[in-house]
Amino acid sequence: MSDSDEKLDESEKAIGYDEFKKRATAGKSRPKTALAPNSRVKHVIGVVSGKGGVGKTFVSSYLAVKLRRLGFRVAILDADVTGASIPTAFGMNDVKMFSDGVNIYPAISLSGIQIVSSSLLLEHPGDPVIWRGPMSSSLIMQFWSQVVFDADVMIVDCPPGTSDIQLTLMEQLPLDGLVLAVTPQGLVSVIARKAAAMANMMDIPVIGAAMNMAYVTCPDCHHRIYPFGEVDLDTLKQAQIPVISEVPFDPAISGATDRGAIEDLEADYLDEVTRGIIDYLRLEVPHRD
Ligand SMILES: Nc1ncnc2c1ncn2[C@@H]1O[C@H](COP(=O)(O)OP(=O)(O)OP(=O)(O)O)[C@@H](O)[C@H]1O
Ligand SMILES: [Mg+2]
Repeated sequence: MSDSDEKLDESEKAIGYDEFKKRATAGKSRPKTALAPNSRVKHVIGVVSGKGGVGKTFVSSYLAVKLRRLGFRVAILDADVTGASIPTAFGMNDVKMFSDGVNIYPAISLSGIQIVSSSLLLEHPGDPVIWRGPMSSSLIMQFWSQVVFDADVMIVDCPPGTSDIQLTLMEQLPLDGLVLAVTPQGLVSVIARKAAAMANMMDIPVIGAAMNMAYVTCPDCHHRIYPFGEVDLDTLKQAQIPVISEVPFDPAISGATDRGAIEDLEADYLDEVTRGIIDYLRLEVPHRD
């Protein structure tokens, strides 16, 4: 990629972290869809990426796990309606959301994370969900407005891309900020910039990025190998992304998510972004690990 390609054009230029911070509440002042009566969600963080398969679901679930370990009340809204995979990461494919006839409640993970997902509504969790965009958007907004949460932080696992559903989410949910999930190929950094620019236009700050599958660690000498080349963190910094966590390619991650044991994964991955969220939202940590 040439230098000029790497430069942000005027429309994409991010506005700086301080300015982003100031705008955090400006974005929130737009009319939003109301929560259910009795439902409480203090902060909402969207996890987004320009394309699929880069680790959004892993990042969403592990951020939730990390925040929960610190004692926060945490919810995950799985907004990837047709590719819902949060329940799999938490080993909750046999669990259902439930209703007492008046309210709808999220399913609760082993560590107490409140989870809503289209796959928690299916009779057979493996069934494909084939819906048009507007139906998916309205289901997500139903999750928001009809399920009773009690959360300090809600993490929204957004579907990949920058289409209709993402716009609905950004317009209708009171998102405090976004976390970008990216992998270190050049093309993805362009997409990350576009996602950051879109967030900028929508007045939603980018709190941080997870540079996923950035390297592998040699099991013998512990040397880091960068299969895509050394990660170009400067490109992301150009897009004014203040906190970046590098996450290696680690079979423990795919093992934990595929086995439904994300809550058992012990690693320092995503610590910088977790800390970035806490600082940005000015949260008081209930207790430490
Ligand atoms: N750092 C990592 N090391 C090893 N495996 C990983 C890592 N990150 C994610 N994976 C695995 O890669 C696959 C894709 O990750 P994930 O489902 O989180 O991506 P996604 O962006 O949510 O994909 P989709 O667009 O399909 O929703 C999963 O099997 C996951 O376990
Ligand atoms: Mg996913």
